[in-house]
Amino acid sequence: MIITIDGPSGTGKSTTAKRLASALQIAYLDTGAIYRSLAWFFLEEKIDPANEAEGKKALKRFHLEITEDENYIVSGKNITKELRKEKISTLSSTVSAFPYIRKHLRKIQRGCMSKRSGVVEGRDIGSAVFPKADVKIFLTASLASRAKRRHLQLKEQFPDQDFSLKDIEEKLDQRDQADSTRASCPLKKTSDMYVIDTTNLSLEEVLIAILHRIPRKKMRFFYRMIFQIAWGIFRCFYRFRVYGKQHLFAGPALVIANHTSYFDPHMTVLAMKEELHILARNTLFRQKLLASLIL
Ligand code: DC
Repeated sequence: MIITIDGPSGTGKSTTAKRLASALQIAYLDTGAIYRSLAWFFLEEKIDPANEAEGKKALKRFHLEITEDENYIVSGKNITKELRKEKISTLSSTVSAFPYIRKHLRKIQRGCMSKRSGVVEGRDIGSAVFPKADVKIFLTASLASRAKRRHLQLKEQFPDQDFSLKDIEEKLDQRDQADSTRASCPLKKTSDMYVIDTTNLSLEEVLIAILHRIPRKKMRFFYRMIFQIAWGIFRCFYRFRVYGKQHLFAGPALVIANHTSYFDPHMTVLAMKEELHILARNTLFRQKLLASLIL
């Protein structure tokens, strides 16, 4: 399952996407950070992105590694702390306007998500990178609230520096104008995107609105087979019964097993009669067979 979150800066894309990915136990990809990493690389190597021949050669030398704890490594150097600096923000917007660069990074982004589920955030993700995504979200917010969020973020990341809110607001506006009006894959909402205005919403409210859009998981063949066998065993040997089904409601829900027995989670799954996304401790997901069944 791929969930895309598009929208301009400061709408809460990253926080929302990260929380959603962790709640659903699926991967998270920040494509803006990929553009930022490339901007850092071009700056470091003194490459002019307008010089396509030189830029294309540089792209072949661009090797990005994203670690599990979200560090960005380029040419063996951890550049995570550089990525949010103003000059990188501006240059990332500049490099992102070149079609040959977008084409190359699109391949990298698709490669990152091949054969896995995830939440991908950016500015052309639902429209160009994953047009067939299962759920497409577009976040918006007023310019003032976006600038306020970015201001807080910067103050948190660089506590010893002063930032002017007005300055941030102006730069944000300029960058969003550039990203929305560029010829190649501009930031845009398409008719199949679900728009959420986050100006007056809490993170939890945004998450709930997105969770409501997630289609129910269809039982896969292997899952259904194990389900039927387990159902038979529990029914015959443990007199398995389900009470209180009338309290279930349509839409997303968190079903919590009490753990009075090791069988609780299994029986909870059997009671639901649909494929659930399982949240459990990390070590369970390290067993490949079990992980493929419960993920
Ligand atoms: O989301 P962000 O501020 O980290 O993105 C940095 C820049 O990268 C942004 O100005 C535009 C560009 N970008 C893009 O063009 N397409 C994406 N999918 C993500 C980011």
